Amino acid sequence: MATGKQQQYQTIPDYERGGSGPSLTPSSNQSWLRRAKRPALYLFLGLVVVALVVTVSLGFFVPHPKHPTPWQRQPVKAGITVQAQQEGIAKCEAIQAPRVDNVPRPDRVNPRGLGVQPVLLTNANVWDGEGGVLEQVQVLLVDGVVSNVAKSIHSYPKHTKVIDVKGHIVSPGLVDMHSHIGVDSWPGLWATDDTNEMTSPITPFVRSIDGFNPSDKAIRIVASGGVTSVLVLPGSGNLIGGEAFAFKLRHVNTTSNEDMLVQAHIDQTQERRWRYEKHACGENAKRVYGELGQIPSTRLGEGFLFRKAYDQATKLRQAQDDWCAAAQRSPARLESRFPEVLELEALVAILRGDVRLNVHCYETHDLEAFLRHSFEYNFTVAAFHHALDAYRVPDILKRAPNNITIATFADHWGYKKEAFQGSPKAPRILLDAGIPVALKSDHPVLNSQHLLFEAAKAHHYGLTEQEAFQAVTSVPARAMGLDHRVGSLKIGYDADVVIWDRSPLELGAAPLQVFVDGVPLFDEPVIESPEQKVAATPATESLVKDPSNNGVNSFVLTNIGRNFLDGDASTIVVEQGKIVCQGECAQALTGDLPSINLQGGYVVPGFVAVGSSLGLVEISSEDSTGDGVIAASTSQDPKQIVEAVDGIKLGTRHLEEAYKGGILSAITAPMSSNVVLGVSAAFKTGGSSVLTDGTLINPHVALHVQIGNAAKSASFPSVSTQIQFLRRILQENKEAENAYGEAARGDIPTIVQVNGKDEIATLLRLKQQIPSWQPVILGGTEAYLLAEHLAKAKIPVILSPALCTPGDYEQQHCLTGAPLTNETAAHVLHRHGVKIGLGVVDDGLARNLVWDAGWLASTSKDHQLTEDDAIRFVSTNLQEIFYGTRLGQAALQNDFTVYSGHPFDMTSQLVLVHTQENGLEWVSSVV
Ligand SMILES: *[C@@H]1O[C@H](CO)[C@@H](O)[C@H](O)[C@H]1NC(C)=O
Ligand SMILES: *[C@@H]1O[C@H](CO)[C@@H](O)[C@H](O)[C@H]1NC(C)=O
Ligand SMILES: *[C@@H]1O[C@H](CO)[C@@H](O)[C@H](O)[C@H]1NC(C)=O
Ligand SMILES: *[C@@H]1O[C@H](CO)[C@@H](O)[C@H](O)[C@H]1NC(C)=O
Repeated sequence: MATGKQQQYQTIPDYERGGSGPSLTPSSNQSWLRRAKRPALYLFLGLVVVALVVTVSLGFFVPHPKHPTPWQRQPVKAGITVQAQQEGIAKCEAIQAPRVDNVPRPDRVNPRGLGVQPVLLTNANVWDGEGGVLEQVQVLLVDGVVSNVAKSIHSYPKHTKVIDVKGHIVSPGLVDMHSHIGVDSWPGLWATDDTNEMTSPITPFVRSIDGFNPSDKAIRIVASGGVTSVLVLPGSGNLIGGEAFAFKLRHVNTTSNEDMLVQAHIDQTQERRWRYEKHACGENAKRVYGELGQIPSTRLGEGFLFRKAYDQATKLRQAQDDWCAAAQRSPARLESRFPEVLELEALVAILRGDVRLNVHCYETHDLEAFLRHSFEYNFTVAAFHHALDAYRVPDILKRAPNNITIATFADHWGYKKEAFQGSPKAPRILLDAGIPVALKSDHPVLNSQHLLFEAAKAHHYGLTEQEAFQAVTSVPARAMGLDHRVGSLKIGYDADVVIWDRSPLELGAAPLQVFVDGVPLFDEPVIESPEQKVAATPATESLVKDPSNNGVNSFVLTNIGRNFLDGDASTIVVEQGKIVCQGECAQALTGDLPSINLQGGYVVPGFVAVGSSLGLVEISSEDSTGDGVIAASTSQDPKQIVEAVDGIKLGTRHLEEAYKGGILSAITAPMSSNVVLGVSAAFKTGGSSVLTDGTLINPHVALHVQIGNAAKSASFPSVSTQIQFLRRILQENKEAENAYGEAARGDIPTIVQVNGKDEIATLLRLKQQIPSWQPVILGGTEAYLLAEHLAKAKIPVILSPALCTPGDYEQQHCLTGAPLTNETAAHVLHRHGVKIGLGVVDDGLARNLVWDAGWLASTSKDHQLTEDDAIRFVSTNLQEIFYGTRLGQAALQNDFTVYSGHPFDMTSQLVLVHTQENGLEWVSSVV
């Protein structure tokens, strides 16, 4: 097997061998390797070769908790063969060889695109990925390379395919520098999870390429979002997670993952082949190993293990350098082989500067500790990943001798303590401090298909359009040392090119076509001129925030650009917290009410968060910050049905951020692993206590249950036991005065968290058996496959998330959207007349609900699903689904927000909130 592997490597000589040692060996004729071949040497070696049987071991070990064997050096008395000597000397030469700089070159060859049909794009508006915008140009792709970009290209091969892109924006393919695609495949199965080798905290020697599945279904889906290059990192369970590899997201006909590498088949005398390594500090390793009673159980242990590993690597590097020096002085006297330890090879490569080190760290002190290790052992960090606290410590980051890139999320935060201080303004703050910022997905944590949406959000929170776009193109390419090939649309770059259906940072943006190495990935699109956007009432700069209005509950709003509350009335009069008039309100205007000119701002109903744990927990990984999670139990005792109202915690930062995202109320069920979660409560997100007037809308809203894989437990090992339980509690309590009875009779709705089509079909059967029962599907990824049945049975669907992924088996039929599918689940359900709501999957992302809705409206063909529909999905539809009157719909009708422009325009800001209880409040969208 080893031989087979070896041969495979030889047919692809430029493939980096990773763990078995750098194979960059530009041998030179005048080298001292030649001198080492003198005949006298052979004689000498002949004499000492006998001693070879003595095992030469330098005794380097990576620390393993179970075998904390110290580094030891055994006395070496053996001589070595000529061959061993030559091999060692070749390694010394490779170490000492000057490194080639990766500079862009117009005559660059892309070995993977040779012979691909040339393409000429005409009428293109180019975003070049480096901040440049070129209007009305032509782009020529030949042999997998961008061979020309010019106003008018006259010389191109005869068989070139000419595509008129009619003014659409054309850009380089996106680069995602933090992905687990291929090692954490879709759908997620135990068998395909090859993300973390969590058997030891220090595993620099494992390689993502050994697990990368070139048939991961995600590859094509992610490419359909315009992402063409990804850095596939091992996970973050270990301190030193292993070696990473950069792939292009194009299936190759050999199905060889080596052929998918960004630098497959390159000429290494022309280009440097960087290596990549993943490290991680902070909560993960101490949790994983601490729970096993192993080191590290604290950050203290983490620091020691990092230092121990680098200490060993430093000694090995020194031993190698000593060997090379000895070989250079007197090769005849070499007594041992060139010192190598497979387990430490990658770390030595880091010390030698051949590796781009990518380090997952969040907290300020984690970043500082890791830099301290890097100074102690003299290596550099290419990028800190996630790094949600980096914006607080630019000065510390600048102590490094190089520009460390911060590869971060646009607005994902709050899921654990180390992610709790995050701010979506961080990219702006970091750029202002001169620190490069890349945006990444951590796929499948976020679906890399929507990497561009990360850029759109960063733009919303303060980056310019081009700064945001660079954060998903040239900046990550530079951090990966690949900015001579990918991340820019310029002459000499790889022909990884996207034609966008609209301006890339607009809601709903998706590729019409994606080329990788000049090869088109999707069916040939019909390209029509981009839709002329109706000039939205301009997001107003002149809307003057007047804090003296804060708390006012009688006022007049004038000059409303668009009013989503009521048919576009441009005036609203509010008295004592209640809307008393919209539209022609002359009579209602008493003249002494304060009047606020909205300057064309948009009035939008308050949104409702459903399906989240908002109000029950602050940091979900810290039990002490929340109500707690209920274990599964087969008890049918209706007296044990838990009510969320008893556990509500208000004034959390999560609620505050949701509120500033326009979410003025939430319906939250208890957090539970049980089939029956309990009974939800409805409350105002801006309230300070359940005792405050109006905060608690309804303490007893709906029965919540979950069906499917997520609800499997020792108590309910199968879906069928879950269904059986549900059937029993409904049937046996039909007459009972408890929540089961209310649900069975349809007095309250039953919210069923479920995604799979077969589970949903079973629930439809149950509905036939108990017609009075009023189920609502929450989740609903595959519900679209039963759209007709759901419409007929009048069962609403709360899609959660609005855009699914086939991330697990029960969601494998997810419609991922253009260009792969014409519609998404929402469009199909809507077309069939199913009542739709949108849910919140991640508490920290609740503030994105308006964009979730806007995405659906803006991707609806022929606008079948209108903007008004979309706003209803996150407001009035949800109120109706939860039986508006029970909810206190009357009170909610007076709650609204004002955006500076169209809420579906991502440059708009939410500026004003009105609730019946608290009156007006000016808000700035982020603290
Ligand atoms: C793959 O493509 C290459 C060139 O593009 C071709 O030479 C080769 O025969 C193809 N292999 C298969 C298995 O189709
Ligand atoms: C640290 O590394 C840099 C870059 O490789 C090198 O120039 C410098 O001499 C090293 N410093 C020490 C103290 O080894
Ligand atoms: C860091 O970035 C700045 C600004 O782009 C540049 O001027 C400087 O040369 C860079 N420093 C290094 C060490 O690359
Ligand atoms: C999308 O719609 C077009 C035209 O309506 C149709 O030709 C095509 O087959 C559809 N594609 C998919 C994936 O359903």
